[in-house]
Amino acid sequence: MTTRLISISLAMAMAGSFAGAAQTKSVDAEGHQWWQHAVFYEIYPRSFADSNNDGTGDLNGITAKMDYLRQLGVDAIWITPCFPSPQVDFGYDVSDYEDIDPVYGTLADFDRLLAEGKKRNIRVILDFVINHTSDQHKWFLDSKSSKDSAHRDWYMWRDGKAGGQPPNNWVSTFGGSAWKFDPATNQFYYHYFYAGQPDLNWRNPAVEKAMFDTNRWWYKRGVSGFRLDAVDTLFEREDLKDNPVLPGTNKFGDPNTEELYNKKLPEVHDVLSRLRAVADESDAVLIGETWTKTIDELKEYYGSGRKELQMPMDFLFTNINRLSPDEFRRQIAGVDSAGGWPVYLFSNHDIIRAYNRYGDGRHNDQIAKMMAGLYLTLRGTPIMYYGEELGMENNDPKRKEDVKDPIGRLGWPKDKGRDGQRTPMQWDSTANAGFSAATPWLPVPDSYKTHNVATEDKDPDSILNFYRRLLALRHTDPALLEGEYVALNTNDPNVVSYLRSYKKEAVLVVLNMSAADQTVSFDLAPQGFAGAKATTLLTTMKPAPSGAASVALGPFGVYLARLTK
Ligand code: GLC
Repeated sequence: MTTRLISISLAMAMAGSFAGAAQTKSVDAEGHQWWQHAVFYEIYPRSFADSNNDGTGDLNGITAKMDYLRQLGVDAIWITPCFPSPQVDFGYDVSDYEDIDPVYGTLADFDRLLAEGKKRNIRVILDFVINHTSDQHKWFLDSKSSKDSAHRDWYMWRDGKAGGQPPNNWVSTFGGSAWKFDPATNQFYYHYFYAGQPDLNWRNPAVEKAMFDTNRWWYKRGVSGFRLDAVDTLFEREDLKDNPVLPGTNKFGDPNTEELYNKKLPEVHDVLSRLRAVADESDAVLIGETWTKTIDELKEYYGSGRKELQMPMDFLFTNINRLSPDEFRRQIAGVDSAGGWPVYLFSNHDIIRAYNRYGDGRHNDQIAKMMAGLYLTLRGTPIMYYGEELGMENNDPKRKEDVKDPIGRLGWPKDKGRDGQRTPMQWDSTANAGFSAATPWLPVPDSYKTHNVATEDKDPDSILNFYRRLLALRHTDPALLEGEYVALNTNDPNVVSYLRSYKKEAVLVVLNMSAADQTVSFDLAPQGFAGAKATTLLTTMKPAPSGAASVALGPFGVYLARLTK
């Protein structure tokens, strides 16, 4: 036990110094930049830590938890929108791109957060809500004031059809027509999301300039990049052609349509390449909310023949909702060969927590470790979702009147919305999980009593300590940092195995995705590791499997070993 703790803290110290080196050099020996070795961690600021006990998290709360993040092994935090906002979509409706919402604090608080992060080599990524603003943004208030206003053409205003009908059949992803009538000027405006989120007109160069300048403003302040919200929907066809109608209705009761003419238009890529040039001025990273349907679409977001996003997120990975070795292998192979740097995540503020999606109700904690063993050892950059390292679960609303998310209010009961995955971070086993002395804006699930930072910190076998060990390894092991991904035993229906192979070393990763015992053997001759010496790096098995020739794993067991020629 003592020996293990010493080795963890040594590894952490090394992880810290590695991150420090990465921030002062722009590339390592393999040409990799800081973000390629960083572990990203998404923070939903309403729910992370509440410093002023008003029931809602805030920036000072995040700052107070920087040591926790550093010890966990996080190198960059992505904070979802904390800008002034009427909060109809909890910040994804921005009314001022260059300030902080008083709910979360002030610009001075933000500067302090940046500075405290910097001391610990933790970079800060902000969320750029690029497709739309709030209907309370001064640009939109001016835009709607008259047909001749200076900002009229900053949004999408169109005449309706006869009989007061909207301009076309496009539907909002939050339900109903995507057009809202405004009697003041007798025209409709377009909103792909909620009506309080009017779409910007990206064909207007003034919009592009103003929006790009907001990025420069934050770069100057010290942020290291942006996660780009909803990039797929930046452009719409100018002739407003109706989308093809498909059979049936969606969860909101709207006709199903194929979103051919208001999504993923080629013009999106022109904007992204110009936005990348702005990011390059400040050596910043762009992460994309890119809902790609194929690997070819993903390739386009990296940029075909030009630079676009360094880190488009692979959401196809999050669409795999069962423990299927075949599906994971297929997706990893596709992303790994797409020509860019892979980005993996399992959940976020829009997606049901991995603990629920993969859990079988009996082995959830083992499964949580096994899934961490998968995506934190792949070649690429992981984006964790806060609380995942504790085994936090979804806490979906039980009654419609409790729902906060507009999707849940409109979609109830078919879609209960996204509140369940946005509940407060579970810090300890006291009331409200130690998040706040006041009633939190969303309730914590009962499992907070066991799945919280303080309790798990003391248990060497907790999910939290497993994550810490894994992340420490990830920061220090050259093969995990630089090695190529080599799939092994690709027909195994239960166990996912691969090497991360680098020069004379490799890390062997073996993950049992089944509830039964499994024994696997490997022929490592083709990779040049036949008879290699295997040293266990991390395992959930007691005793640890010995060697790499044959590995026995219990239900959802994990085994990581270093192979040396
Ligand atoms: C993105 C965000 C989501 C938000 C939507 C509209 O999908 O992740 O939370 O509701 O954009 O901004």
